[in-house]
Amino acid sequence: MSVKNICCIGAGYVGGPTCAVIAYKCHDIKVTIVDLNQARIDAWNSDKLPIYEPGLEEVVFDRRGKNLFFTTDVDGAISEADLIFVSVNTPTKKSGMGAGMAADLAYVESATRRIAEVSKTSKIVVEKSTVPCRTAQSMRTILEANSTPEVSFQILSNPEFLAEGTAIDDLFNPDRVLIGALQTEEGIAAQNALVEVYTHWVPRERCITTNLWSSELSKLAANAMLAQRISSVNALSAICEATGADVDEVSRACGRDTRLGSKFLKASVGFGGSCFQKDILNLVYLSEQLNLPEVAAYWKQVVIMNEYQKKRFVRKIISTLFNTITNKKIAVLGFAFKKDTGDTRESAAITLIKDFIQEHARVAIYDPKVEHEQIYMDLSEPGVVDTRKEVEKHIQICASPYEAAEGADAVVIVTEWDEFKDENLDYEKIYQGMNKPAFLFDGRLLINAAKLRQIGFKVNVIGKNELAGTA
Ligand code: NAD
Ligand code: UDX
Repeated sequence: MSVKNICCIGAGYVGGPTCAVIAYKCHDIKVTIVDLNQARIDAWNSDKLPIYEPGLEEVVFDRRGKNLFFTTDVDGAISEADLIFVSVNTPTKKSGMGAGMAADLAYVESATRRIAEVSKTSKIVVEKSTVPCRTAQSMRTILEANSTPEVSFQILSNPEFLAEGTAIDDLFNPDRVLIGALQTEEGIAAQNALVEVYTHWVPRERCITTNLWSSELSKLAANAMLAQRISSVNALSAICEATGADVDEVSRACGRDTRLGSKFLKASVGFGGSCFQKDILNLVYLSEQLNLPEVAAYWKQVVIMNEYQKKRFVRKIISTLFNTITNKKIAVLGFAFKKDTGDTRESAAITLIKDFIQEHARVAIYDPKVEHEQIYMDLSEPGVVDTRKEVEKHIQICASPYEAAEGADAVVIVTEWDEFKDENLDYEKIYQGMNKPAFLFDGRLLINAAKLRQIGFKVNVIGKNELAGTA
């Protein structure tokens, strides 16, 4: 069969860009992206899309109203589709069994039940969300309980590997597309139908076909291994600071080994984003459920190291500022979890700033893309009015790095936005406006420390020791 009509349930960071690109690359396929969140759908239908992603506007504006539609009519879109992506959120559970670790599958289940209830024709249902290994089995059970001789369901796993900030490039030119299916005649036919969608623009040899469970586990495995590299290099950054080795040099030297490769070896103040921590904890929980405690402990250490790195950076800042930041002004440059996105989920900035507030510092924040309201929400405890007031007392959201640094005792670079590089920002001007001594903490290995020391800054870079190479 050939897919002619796609519905995507979930118009978020994954569903939106992924299915917009399918519409862009496959003019013969009608793509409808649905969500229960009216405001999000309205934004997708407006001039200001709900997420910032380089290249996304061009794709959406080119196809919207032609073969790409955004609507809250979930049932209508399910009814007319022959293939449905389930791309809903799977956050870490906040309460109940597995709280703080297991993935909350309530949204996946409710979307699956909706498909089961509404479908009057056969469908291919594609698990796009990141889920624990064997979730497809639960989806299948729900769908099969509702199948009839006229309406049957095939389930596929097609995890998404895009990274935020580069989503459109990643989707246009993916390293691989992974499609898992039950190894039955019907399962393989469904798998081929989805391969055919992707081969509109992805070379066939980059489409990997596997069984369902390998596909589900590969997604968790890839994220766990990527995050593990960052925790490894961050662990080394602590050794570098203590010894005078330079973490950039160590990464370069290790990364030149073709067996290791050079990517994802950049030391930082800690990884953030909606995926890494959630997916590793998901893997930890799965391992525990499978009675594999050593495996669980192994992966958990990646998250523990990440927390350590954030706390270590905060401790370094406080100790350098003469062991107190009470009433001092700290300028935080960057609030997003990485550059080129307005997403703040699990951003290291949140942990850092909460710690600064606990120490009674005044925090001035500048980020080029994050909405102000998002910053207030991230720093407050949900539903607790007083914490919001407390946050408002301690923070100031600024329109430029210069405003943030005015009168500050320290500037802290948390997100690696290009505009914070020393060739793009007037650090001379920043320095002039600051209290002296003017401290600068680079949590992203972004600036040329020697150059900024010449201006007069006291510079501290993660994974580097001021005396490196000289003593
Ligand atoms: P998101 O929160 O941005 O979007 C999910 C959307 O699903 C929300 O808008 C929500 O309103 C909607 N939704 C939930 N239940 C629904 C239902 N029953 N019917 C209709 N809409 C419903 O989440 P996201 O970042 O797009 O992530 C989605 C999935 O993709 C997650 O499992 C995530 O782990 C995975 N993933 C995310 C990324 C990433 O970079 N964000 C990358 C790869 C994979
Ligand atoms: C990640 C995976 O890369 C992607 O394949 C998956 O689909 C979703 O999760 P994302 O979280 O969007 O993507 O961004 P990513 O580029 O992986 O960065 C995650 C975090 O790690 C960011 O905070 C980033 O700054 C940090 N990072 C990344 C480092 O600290 N050092 C590095 O070398 C790379």
